[in-house]
Amino acid sequence: MNAIAEHLRASSNQEAVPTSLFGLPNDTPHERVLLVSDEPTGMQTILAVHSTARGPAFGGCRFWDYSDHASALTDALRLSQGMSLKNALADLPFGGGKAVILKPKGEFDRTQLFAAFGRAVQSLGGAYITAEDVGTTTADMRVVQSQTTNVSGIPRDGAFGGDPSPKTAWGVFVSIRMGVREHLKRHSLEGVRVAIQGLGAVGWHLAKHLHDVGARLTVADIDTDKLERARAEFGATVVGVNEILAVSCDVLAPCALGAAIHAGTVPKLQCKIIAGAANNQLATPADGDALHAMGVLYLPDYLVNAGGIISVAREFRGEGAESSVMTEVTRIEDRVFELLARVNKGEGTPARVADAWALSKLVRTE
Ligand code: NAI
Repeated sequence: MNAIAEHLRASSNQEAVPTSLFGLPNDTPHERVLLVSDEPTGMQTILAVHSTARGPAFGGCRFWDYSDHASALTDALRLSQGMSLKNALADLPFGGGKAVILKPKGEFDRTQLFAAFGRAVQSLGGAYITAEDVGTTTADMRVVQSQTTNVSGIPRDGAFGGDPSPKTAWGVFVSIRMGVREHLKRHSLEGVRVAIQGLGAVGWHLAKHLHDVGARLTVADIDTDKLERARAEFGATVVGVNEILAVSCDVLAPCALGAAIHAGTVPKLQCKIIAGAANNQLATPADGDALHAMGVLYLPDYLVNAGGIISVAREFRGEGAESSVMTEVTRIEDRVFELLARVNKGEGTPARVADAWALSKLVRTE
């Protein structure tokens, strides 16, 4: 049992936390995992509610072509656990959850499919609130909204809201700025070399922020159109998807999918800082230890990429205006500063200090 599971056991009112049939090996048990198959639409989803200790489980919905059911389940479980830590560290009154929809192999009606997903979300009676993640759009969330109110990430009339990606990108940007200031002792991002893996919804906005302040970009994506645009608009250097992690740079920003940092890639890294949007960047906790030993500053993904959930959580609660959301997202840099202060005091590696910090906030309040 790892530290997260131990903490949950200690903070539970029960004698012991039952081992979950759906739990990851040696990892935290989930409160609830729901598998729904809707034959008429071909929709298959896994809704993972990791923790409702702080409130309803809140986390996005991933729509992905999984190679098999087991990898979809693993993805849902890892992502939902990460949401518990992310929401806790961001001081949000929400627990952690996530949904994955397995992309059908053949033809399908997207509207009908997301309507079926909305019914699955509704069946959890508010224990889980969904929003966008990789492969889903605001249009999909509008369809989900036709079946349940437990959805966010939808532009609201006359108010802020909608696509969380720009907020996520801003949070990553301010984190990079703080990491560069504290770790590299550089007070400007001008001339700082940043390698971005993935120019999607978040990666693109991040590239723009960095370009605007004079950073030098190297980028990789599987979508060649995005690469051409980045070359034209940002003067970015383009490299292959198998090269980006080994690029010599000041900052590596993983903004594609998870587990980019593993035993096979760690020895090849030539960066000084890792800070990006992708969830679950470290394949294992040992990879965080290895980075620390190499002198690479790893800023934990769930700390720096919380801008999107801060935005959709506020939207869901109907709180505040766009400017106040941005102010709250900008506070992520203060948390990065505090994390580095704790690391410098010798509390542990950034990844382990962040885990312990998030866990200390993952408590049932009623
Ligand atoms: P996206 O789907 O818009 O972008 C992902 C990009 O990565 C795409 O352009 C894709 O072509 C590219 N890509 C895929 N495989 C690649 C590879 N092997 N090498 C290089 N590029 C590759 O997704 P989005 O929304 O930008 O999210 C990126 C990451 O950030 C995901 O891990 C997501 O879970 C995470 N995240 C996103 C948030 C958001 O607000 N959208 C919030 C928090 C985390």
